[in-house]
Amino acid sequence: MNEMKVTAFVGSARKKHTYLATERFLKSLQKNGDVDFEIVALADYNLKTCRGCKLCLDKGEELCPLKDDRDILMEKVRQSDGVVFATPNYSFQVSGLMKVFLDRFGYVFHRPEYFGKTFTGIVAQGVYGGKEIVKYLDFVGSGMGFNVVSGFLINTREPVPESEQVKTEKAIEKQSLRFYRQLARKEYPSPSMLKLMIFRMSRTSLKAALTEDFKDYRHFRDQGWFDNDYYYPVKLNPVKRTAGWLFDITARRMAAAN
Ligand SMILES: Cc1cc2nc3c(=O)[nH]c(=O)nc-3n(C[C@H](O)[C@H](O)[C@H](O)COP(=O)(O)O)c2cc1C
Repeated sequence: MNEMKVTAFVGSARKKHTYLATERFLKSLQKNGDVDFEIVALADYNLKTCRGCKLCLDKGEELCPLKDDRDILMEKVRQSDGVVFATPNYSFQVSGLMKVFLDRFGYVFHRPEYFGKTFTGIVAQGVYGGKEIVKYLDFVGSGMGFNVVSGFLINTREPVPESEQVKTEKAIEKQSLRFYRQLARKEYPSPSMLKLMIFRMSRTSLKAALTEDFKDYRHFRDQGWFDNDYYYPVKLNPVKRTAGWLFDITARRMAAAN
């Protein structure tokens, strides 16, 4: 198998627990197979805070008025087979650095593009609140189109007891194996019923509500998403095929009633 590229984006301004756990995770990944990795410390890049103009959503991400390193980071995601978002828990959420980064990718939730790529999240926390952040990152990854391997949490309250260090090492090893297996599959899985519903209802309502003037409309049309069963070619079983058809009809009726 060809070498696979994994890029980890770290949302801590210091190279401490989040960064070090990410590095150990990636090195552990290399024990499983031929993996090349890069760690991107978001603090080393110039990323401006979203101004909320919605040009990326409505007209196209290329029209974003902020001139910074966003496109460099996007290209790194595009060039990767696997991606990690790693963040400390700050005030029960991802760090500000990570959130600024995610907001700059906001349009990807409208026009997901990372199908076939593997994703996971890593969260470092002192005491409490990280589980919800892990779930949030799972959700973010899924919304962007990635194949998500549920993320994991490490506890870093100092001095970190040896038992906690052992627990972290085990979690890293287990997670890297799970990630590697998914990475090697390069899957385009059949969608869950929920994902199918979200795709079919959003594409049908989007077609009814928007026009050529909107980037979402043009993108969905150009990708064939107004006509296809799902974002990418899949063989739906008869139950999902019927459900997909019903989701389309329901969304069409809802659009007509509005
Ligand atoms: C501004 C700030 C807010 C924090 N908020 C939380 C929190 O809500 N819950 C928690 O468990 N730890 C919290 N922490 C602790 C960090 O999550 C913890 O120290 C983590 O290891 C930091 O990551 P780093 O070592 O990669 O910098 C906070 C730390 C900072 C600096």
